Amino acid sequence: GVTMEILLFLFICSLAPISLGFHHSSPFPTNFLFGTASSSYQYEGAYLNDGKGLSNWDVFTHKPGVISDGSNADVTTDQYHRYLEDIDIMEAIKVNSYRFSISWPRILPKGRFGEVNFAGIDYYNRLIDALLLKGIQPFVTLFHFDIPQELEDRYGGWLSPQSLEDFQLFADICFKYLGDRVKYWVTFNEPNHLVPLAYRRGKFPPCRCSGEFGDCNEGDSEKEPFLAAHNMILSHAAAVDIYRNKYQTQQGGKIGIVLHCDSFEPLTNSTPDKLATERAQSFTINWILDPILFGKYPKEMEMILGTILPKFSGSDKAKLKRGLDFIGINHYASYYVRDCVSSVCESGQGVSTTEGLYQQSAIGGLTPFDWLNVYPRGMKKLLNYLKDRYNNTPMFITENGYGNLYNPDLTEEEYLNDFKRIEYMSGHLDNLMAAIREGADVRGYFAWSLLDNFEWLYGFSIRFGLHHVDFTTLKRTPKLSASWYKNFIEKHMTHS
Ligand code: NOJ
Repeated sequence: GVTMEILLFLFICSLAPISLGFHHSSPFPTNFLFGTASSSYQYEGAYLNDGKGLSNWDVFTHKPGVISDGSNADVTTDQYHRYLEDIDIMEAIKVNSYRFSISWPRILPKGRFGEVNFAGIDYYNRLIDALLLKGIQPFVTLFHFDIPQELEDRYGGWLSPQSLEDFQLFADICFKYLGDRVKYWVTFNEPNHLVPLAYRRGKFPPCRCSGEFGDCNEGDSEKEPFLAAHNMILSHAAAVDIYRNKYQTQQGGKIGIVLHCDSFEPLTNSTPDKLATERAQSFTINWILDPILFGKYPKEMEMILGTILPKFSGSDKAKLKRGLDFIGINHYASYYVRDCVSSVCESGQGVSTTEGLYQQSAIGGLTPFDWLNVYPRGMKKLLNYLKDRYNNTPMFITENGYGNLYNPDLTEEEYLNDFKRIEYMSGHLDNLMAAIREGADVRGYFAWSLLDNFEWLYGFSIRFGLHHVDFTTLKRTPKLSASWYKNFIEKHMTHS
């Protein structure tokens, strides 16, 4: 009778959300990208194959004593030769996107002072085609720390305005030959993180520093970080200008930038600590995003740095108006911030005048690394902060993940049952979902990383992979986190 029909109707209604492809519990928008992230130097290997030129990192890691375990990425995961196997692995964990970067010296071995290496372009053509065949969207970064060594040698890389010409050429070639299939472009990965390491503390090539920072190539720790970042911001603007003028209408992709984004909270409720928190945000995140989105550096930076901060000319400002289509967020850590203007601080990150006069200390669970701690709520707070400051510009979490110390004595049991990684990811994804429910326009999440890989100064001694890599045999083995992520994706992915 009628009750039966009502019951049947209610039953069908309760199924509808499932069959329509959305879950009440899942706030992710349709076509949300679930992926993993990587970079050319950390993954490819094949450092001399098929006409590739040397990058700054090839040269740097061959110097004795610079990488903690004495390794380099000449071979690393060998993805250059194993990309098909890796795409099968991606398919098995159900991701619908893969973030990778293009090795600049593979495309232009000597920058604009030599020929285009078409064998290099062909590698990315094959990679992109193989991804698309499995329904995996390429999410492509142009610059992820590796620049042709030639450009360092000729004119000092990012310190010279000549870098703009080279970056424009590189970007144009990538758009031209790959852009028909790439719908997401990133100009720079973490310029805000790279620059202090390379030009203030002298740790990443070209290893420049001065004064208290010691042991490095003679540079100017006060001025050079801001100069290098300025040239990167202008290079971003120039590449976006080229994309908008020549390619975007036809190719229909989006272009953005990726920043290293920590979440900051005042240590106490005092006004100085609150102001210090704003300085921390300005000197790390807004430093790059304000010029691109508002056409000028943050006011805290202008006030503290004065003439150290380069200026944007009228024509620079016109190009900066090309803005971006999305903000890429690499998020790993959260910090309490304490003021160092009205009180004296010990030395450390942030404390010097040119770093913003604040002191930071990790919030939440500690790890052996001071740039990684476990405070999942930082994800939601960060997203709310960026949503408010940048008018809810579309955002992607372009990296988030957990790195553990690795040594050859660990048992298989220990390195495959990575509960801490699962806990880290699930906590951060919960907070990502909460932020989306509160209105943040987030369109994708990329786990760092698909595989164990070369972690810069730490070499292979820190592992971020959802898959273990045996760097002798190059065998990939899924960790528990790989099946955890797959289940998460299956539960939450929605299709149009
Ligand atoms: C940020 C960088 O983009 C990536 O290259 C690095 O491996 C991860 N964070 C982990 O440190």
